[in-house]
Amino acid sequence: MNIHATLAEPSARPHLLMCPPRHFAVTYSINPWMDPQAWADRGGNLHAEAQRQWAHLHQALVSAGAVVDIVEPAAGLPDLVFTANAAVVLDRKVVLSRFRYPQRRDEEPVFAAAFAALAARGVVDDVFQLPEELILEGAGDCIWDAKRRLFWLGCGFRSDAAATPFLERQFGRPTLALPLAEACFYHLDTALCALPCGSVMYYPGAFTAAANATIEAQVAGEDRIALDLADAERFAANAVCVHNTIVLSSCGDRLRSMLQERGYAVVETPLAAFMRSGRSACCLTLRLDRRSDAAADVAREQTDRAGVVRAP
Ligand code: ARG
Repeated sequence: MNIHATLAEPSARPHLLMCPPRHFAVTYSINPWMDPQAWADRGGNLHAEAQRQWAHLHQALVSAGAVVDIVEPAAGLPDLVFTANAAVVLDRKVVLSRFRYPQRRDEEPVFAAAFAALAARGVVDDVFQLPEELILEGAGDCIWDAKRRLFWLGCGFRSDAAATPFLERQFGRPTLALPLAEACFYHLDTALCALPCGSVMYYPGAFTAAANATIEAQVAGEDRIALDLADAERFAANAVCVHNTIVLSSCGDRLRSMLQERGYAVVETPLAAFMRSGRSACCLTLRLDRRSDAAADVAREQTDRAGVVRAP
């Protein structure tokens, strides 16, 4: 399996960054899902399970039409697999992350080197550092909404709402802060997914009343897919959309039908080993090719959902 993509030319295929789980483990606890003792008790089995589950996820994404670039795993950085937290990327511009907890800070130079290499290959153009005082955990907390041409910014547990003006200056698009209210849903992508058709699936219970009001003000009723607790807890919001395919760990029948009615194929690929670290499919990927030119993106996805095959 060749997982090292080379992509010098812009491509219509969604382009993802992933990191194989060679050194993945739960060795510390920085969210309520992480239990290092439980991992240690079954470490060998769980590590093998993680390797298998990641390979299946990778295969599902490639089969759906994604191109995947790889960050080399690094010993001692078990959460490096969660590439969603590496950076915010839009229009070939990159804002590198700064992590809240010291346990993840050593990932920063690894991701910086990975983006320097992507820039050298022409995959991205400019790579920016955050101002000193700000914490921002990449696309895990900063989700691009192609339909509304804005970023949703999760804050309250990891990223700073104060990053809003900086992001608006860097990317020239509105950024709306959504304060999170529940420690189990500590990153925005644990509780919200903006789909290319304009629907937003989210778990209202993860957000403050003010954040729910912001979502309701921006997203029309028919575009809101509110998850119930069961789907929220099985990480259904932590989904990756590649053309017309939504890849997620698992979801209930009602949610699957709602997504199918909107024209998506739903692919379930179990990611239980990663859930022990606090999340699932979306966190294990970072989209590198998002463009703020929504019209192009949305038209492209709609063409895909209509079943028209485009040239690669
Ligand atoms: N153990 C990691 C942490 O707590 C999980 C990160 C999941 N990533 C995400 N984008 N939700 O930071």
